[in-house]
Amino acid sequence: MTTEPVGDVVHLRAGGTSVVVQLSDARLPRVLHWGEDLGTLSDADLTTIAAAAMPGIGDSSVTYPQPVPVLAQVPEGWLGRPGIVADRDGTQWAARFLVASAFTAETAEARTLTVRAVDEPYGLELEIELEVLHASGLVRQRAVLRNREPAPLRVGAIELALPVPQAADEVMDLTGRWSLERVPQRRAFDVGEWVRTSRGGKPGLEHTTLVLAGERGFGFRSGRVWATHLAWSGNQTLGAERTPADTRRLVASEMLVPGEVVLGRDDEYATPWQYGSWGDGLDELAARFHRHLRASAGAPRSPRPVILNTWEAVYFEHDPATLVALAERGAAAGVERFVVDDGWFVGRRDDTTSLGDWTIDPERWPAGLAPLADRVRELGMDFGLWFEPEMVNLDSDLAREHPDWLFDAGHGAGLPSRYQHVLDLGHPEAESYVLEAMSALVKELGIAYIKWDHNRYLLDAGHSPSGRPGFREQTLAAYRIMDELHRRHPGLEIESCASGGGRIDLGVLARTQRVWPSDCNDPHERAEIQRWTGLLVPPEYQGTHIGAEHSHTTHRQHPLSYRGEKALWGNLGVELNLLAEDERTRADVAAWIAFHKRHRELLHGGVSVHADLAEPAARLDGVVAADGSEALFALSLTERPRTWPLGRIALPGLDDARRHRVRVVAPDGAEPLSGAQPAWVVDGVELPGRVLRAVGLEMPALDPDRSVILHIESCDA
Ligand code: DGJ
Repeated sequence: MTTEPVGDVVHLRAGGTSVVVQLSDARLPRVLHWGEDLGTLSDADLTTIAAAAMPGIGDSSVTYPQPVPVLAQVPEGWLGRPGIVADRDGTQWAARFLVASAFTAETAEARTLTVRAVDEPYGLELEIELEVLHASGLVRQRAVLRNREPAPLRVGAIELALPVPQAADEVMDLTGRWSLERVPQRRAFDVGEWVRTSRGGKPGLEHTTLVLAGERGFGFRSGRVWATHLAWSGNQTLGAERTPADTRRLVASEMLVPGEVVLGRDDEYATPWQYGSWGDGLDELAARFHRHLRASAGAPRSPRPVILNTWEAVYFEHDPATLVALAERGAAAGVERFVVDDGWFVGRRDDTTSLGDWTIDPERWPAGLAPLADRVRELGMDFGLWFEPEMVNLDSDLAREHPDWLFDAGHGAGLPSRYQHVLDLGHPEAESYVLEAMSALVKELGIAYIKWDHNRYLLDAGHSPSGRPGFREQTLAAYRIMDELHRRHPGLEIESCASGGGRIDLGVLARTQRVWPSDCNDPHERAEIQRWTGLLVPPEYQGTHIGAEHSHTTHRQHPLSYRGEKALWGNLGVELNLLAEDERTRADVAAWIAFHKRHRELLHGGVSVHADLAEPAARLDGVVAADGSEALFALSLTERPRTWPLGRIALPGLDDARRHRVRVVAPDGAEPLSGAQPAWVVDGVELPGRVLRAVGLEMPALDPDRSVILHIESCDA
């Protein structure tokens, strides 16, 4: 790493992104520009940019010197959301940091700026790191606060912000609930604060994942848009703030409850990384997160194995012979990883008991799980196992033996949810118990994959006996366990499940190789959930399963052709009871798996694209090879379209200069289309990429909740 001292204005360029930061007057860093690569700029240019960014001072009462630092300070005149909330028993509550030193550095991963600041009268030090990442062009920043005085410092929040320009006129975020996660909502970026807070000890099913602001009407393919995300799996706040002086910012912070962080002398508090992405359209913005994860140290390096998960096949009905037979059926269909879900541990017959007792049930599994795991490997698959490590049922040996390991803020164990409570990993013995129990099973059974569930929110999560808040420590302990499992068992993969979609963030994704986006396998819902989860998570990290014909969560009914198509794109899985399916269905499932494997490299290495269509019921989603030479698209209808015929649909993302052949493909041989179809649908069509993008093709006729797959290959010699 080479470090360089800096002048008053710094230009960080990496991965197609420029960030211009002002540091003059010993004030904390101010981002003057974040987005488009500005090319090489001289020192004189940078000075001029800074001068030109200074507004005239009017006669209003808003005195805050513009622009606003990434950590805004009240004593400087800031009347918006505070960058720091901290006090010493009611005094020294208005910290004001002045920059003492700053340097830039070039690392393998990023172009970085580090700023050290002090508040001498308060005895505080602050370090801010701001980075632009080479692989992705993502921006990220974090702060570390240090107390140098003996008197304890109570920290309420450190909130970092990235500014967006006035062109960002519309705010978007996501909401949802169990089995309907990641539903987008939009509003004008008016003066005020639009804030989304997760308080349940995990981001949650309704978590927004990103808060975005962009040009009015921004879509997937156009409209400049910026987004923020917090790489943290616990309580947090993400928001968009516009002040009366028209400062527009995207903010992110860990949400701390009173007394959660109290710094003694020389103690420090480090914020999670706040990430920022931008793009011309959501696809470009999302592609930065995808490139980031694909380049990360924990990224899976092998083709994503096709999974069979036992949950919706057998639920708690575990019986060795049945699961062996299911594994055999799975292997015959082309499954590569067999995952035993909830129900394998001692006494677990339903969801009322046994969480925390991580030993194999001797009644149901008299010979243990090893014979099943061995048979699974014999069949050419690897073996995965479900855990819910942070949870405990009161009806369990663990709760009976260690009642003090349950969270208790002073009113006992609190409300159950799904009959369960939360194990307080703030007890080192509890953390070590969970780690050792899991690690022993990983070793004994040769587990390749852990499905890590987390079904209950943390409510009054007090560490017993003190009752002090335990949210932050719980997240850090979960990270430690995951990290240690990876260290002890190289190659082990972990899925972040959390009721489906409850813990999806770059903090956990640094330690997990897959997320379960939703418990809903209904393709109608999944299409949307996967699309919006995809703003952060690339397809290969998303578990996408072929569920039963009658959805277990919505009770809608869909043919395999539609279920297969919606599961095709991610880390494909099967969550069907293959023992109850007829031969024809099993053969069709095998055909979907074979098709997925044939195109896996494209599906999991390409660029995700989504068309912006005028017809609200139509979706065109796909993946295009990095060089634009090959693509797979699915055209779907979510309901009956308002326009009929659908009209021409342009195919985005292809290499303009090449000629491409477009064909309708049906992996399971099912007749995908009925009725009169445009002529090209039967024999395919060959056209330059430019024409496919700018002119498009008349799209095939479809019924609602049906889709058709288009395979596009470059046909240049
Ligand atoms: C919730 C998960 O999201 C499901 O996939 C399944 O693992 C159940 N828990 C098991 O209890």
